[in-house]
Amino acid sequence: MTNRMSANPTGAYGPDEPLWETGRMARTFETVGVVGLGTMGAGIAEVFARSGLNVIGVEADDAALARGRGHLESSTGKVVARGRMSTQEQTALLGRISFTTSREDLAGADLVIEAIPEIMEYKRALFADLDRICKPSAVLATNTSSLSVTAIAAATSRPAQVVGMHFFNPAPVMRLVEVIGTVVIEDGLAAEVAGLARRLGKTPVTVGDRAGFVVNRLLLGYLNHACVLLESGLSSRDDIDVAMKLGLGLPMGPFTLLDLVGLDTSYEVCEVLFRESRDRRHAPAPMLRELVTAGLLGRKTGRGFYSYGEGTATVPEAGPKAAVSVAGIVGGVPEAARLLTDLDAAGFKAVVAEPSDLTPVADADVVIALSERPVIELAVRLPHPERLVGLHLVGDQVAEVASTVLTSDEAAGAVRDLVTVLGRTSVRCGDRAEFVVNALLYPYLNDAIRMLDSGYASAGDIDTAMRLGCGYPAGPFEMLDVIGLERVRDGLRALYAEYREPSFAPAPLLDQLVTAGVSGIRAYAR
Ligand code: 3HC
Repeated sequence: MTNRMSANPTGAYGPDEPLWETGRMARTFETVGVVGLGTMGAGIAEVFARSGLNVIGVEADDAALARGRGHLESSTGKVVARGRMSTQEQTALLGRISFTTSREDLAGADLVIEAIPEIMEYKRALFADLDRICKPSAVLATNTSSLSVTAIAAATSRPAQVVGMHFFNPAPVMRLVEVIGTVVIEDGLAAEVAGLARRLGKTPVTVGDRAGFVVNRLLLGYLNHACVLLESGLSSRDDIDVAMKLGLGLPMGPFTLLDLVGLDTSYEVCEVLFRESRDRRHAPAPMLRELVTAGLLGRKTGRGFYSYGEGTATVPEAGPKAAVSVAGIVGGVPEAARLLTDLDAAGFKAVVAEPSDLTPVADADVVIALSERPVIELAVRLPHPERLVGLHLVGDQVAEVASTVLTSDEAAGAVRDLVTVLGRTSVRCGDRAEFVVNALLYPYLNDAIRMLDSGYASAGDIDTAMRLGCGYPAGPFEMLDVIGLERVRDGLRALYAEYREPSFAPAPLLDQLVTAGVSGIRAYAR
């Protein structure tokens, strides 16, 4: 896919005049300040220092400063341990960072970036202070996850020199930087900051000042939705994580990622998104509030959705076991025929039935209904409805095993065992539309289509942002083209019919593209 950044370095938004047309000299960024050395701030300081810039790291007090220094030592220590950096390079990198508790030390910095908690009053107070301290030419940047850069800029006397520079966790590894321009930003500054991001080895995507920008707007909706599905009892934490990681090839499942991002940060981002969108799906899940109130913020506090003892998450428990003499398969060709062949090769006796006539499977020990939609309608037509289990194969590695309200534990356990024999990982879930993976994926894809349709960012920029910001194997539009627009549209309709959630209704653009017979959204959006 074409990377639009190479054609247009500032992306879809923002003044992009070459500097010679703005009548001022290009800035040089050699000394940068980083205010706040928590997980993100320390990561950002590491990125700057790794690229040869001098860094002034600022924290509120000596204890926080020592913690920040500790983050930097341990992060770079891991890179040394992997043989990717020599100890001399590590020493030189750390030597480029000075640590201080005095903001006044930032007076000579060319750019100061803040990574303090996501609370607007704190940010505005800090920026007012930086405005007083920093030299007139200095650029003030915020690493805010979702707050209004314009509102932060307005706390200074130099709003034209304030920009969003949004890194992703872990900052030394994730390759994206979102550069956020405002309506008052100085001509050419977004491009200069994008150039700085490139100097750091990152890929910039430049966008306007909207809550959540590109990545968090799409990501947090999905993460919050995962919490809602967990709370609804559709599936377990471990099953949902495994489903999304192995089923879609994402680097992490949603709960592992929430723990990495921090539940407090995730909660705050959802709040900000909700305030702007009024979309119920952005309203933070009650579970998030409870965990945050309890101080269980994820990795940084040692416990969130998972407990972290020596860096390892808890292990999922095994399910019940049962023997199967004859398995019944219900489903259309070719899926049912393929499953029959696989079960046969694994030494199981199996019989197949069409959904229209279940007679051949009436006496089977278990009945596997291949489907991505609820299967209870099939179960109630069998003499032993407790033996029917829904099965949805996701990619090459995962099978969603759906229990209806009538399914027995033995039947569900037996099907999970069969799935294991077939070399797949089973994901336990309830009998709801689109089960787990598609229930989480399709609304995310729908959101991406809405974002494209709103003109906020191009399909290329959105794809780049999700691939490089979250390590996804493909961006949403790349995924849409692989899955097929019609299939996603129909899945969204099924989700809407099941949950009656207004934002699950297919985006008008998606509906129109399917109606028009357009097969690939990227071809349309180009
Ligand atoms: N400096 C340089 N490189 C580093 C490093 C550091 N400090 N720490 C790790 N690395 C490198 C490692 O050397 C390794 O490189 P290699 O693969 O070439 O050997 C690579 O990074 C991966 O490191 P690990 O092997 O330790 O870890 P994993 O392979 O398990 O990957 C992960 C970890 C990169 C975190 C991966 O799971 C991932 O991409 N997860 C998704 C993270 C994500 O979505 N982040 C965005 C969250 S949203 C956000 O931050 C926005 C905020 O506003 C909320």
